[in-house]
Amino acid sequence: MTLKVLGISTSPRLKGNSDLLLREALTGAESAGARAEYLRIADLNIAPCIECNSCYDTGRCRVQDDYQQVLQKMLDADRLIFATPVFFATVCTQAKMLIDRGQCLWANKYVLKKPLFEYGPRDRRALVIAVGGSKSKKQFDSIRLTMRSYFDALDVKYVASLFVNRVDVRGAIKKHPSALQEAFRLGKELVSVETPLDKSVDVELI
Ligand SMILES: Cc1cc2nc3c(=O)[nH]c(=O)nc-3n(C[C@H](O)[C@H](O)[C@H](O)COP(=O)(O)O)c2cc1C
Repeated sequence: MTLKVLGISTSPRLKGNSDLLLREALTGAESAGARAEYLRIADLNIAPCIECNSCYDTGRCRVQDDYQQVLQKMLDADRLIFATPVFFATVCTQAKMLIDRGQCLWANKYVLKKPLFEYGPRDRRALVIAVGGSKSKKQFDSIRLTMRSYFDALDVKYVASLFVNRVDVRGAIKKHPSALQEAFRLGKELVSVETPLDKSVDVELI
């Protein structure tokens, strides 16, 4: 079976550092036989969660915009690669707006207690890529925490992270071959059937 990998680029900056790492990770996944799709959130119209709580009754988001199409792609995928720049010690706005719209997933799971997938749980796994300009290491803790909470709602197992700091100027990641190599390797490993589900990889290139 060919695995579907969805790469979600959330940086507002075209060809930014996290985006370049994401593309490398997708290439790695493709090299292992997966079918990869790339999505740039900044090109889409995704409004913030308005906390209307209508999803507490329906399990669905009432706000109609591009979110529905992104959600469907995320649900169809076997693997997710989520890339974000570090903005004020957490994920960027575009990433957070997408994450917050996941409240309908949380409501479906914890309020309505409904399964996300009709035919039972699936083997879904995710890799997170984050790039920051400063030397702070601690800022990745908040990203890890946010993504863990989001992936729980999305029924995806958070299996790997690639956190890179001290990379600021657009495209500067190209001068960091070890980061690009790690992205390729993690993308490849994400789709490998040999990779055990309980293996968690944390790569910090600092
Ligand atoms: C609004 C804003 C906030 C930022 N906050 C941080 C921060 O808290 N920590 C950090 O290390 N870098 C911070 N940066 C720098 C970016 O993380 C850095 O330039 C990164 O390489 C951007 O990744 P991208 O090219 O994928 O967008 C910030 C940049 C912007 C524009």
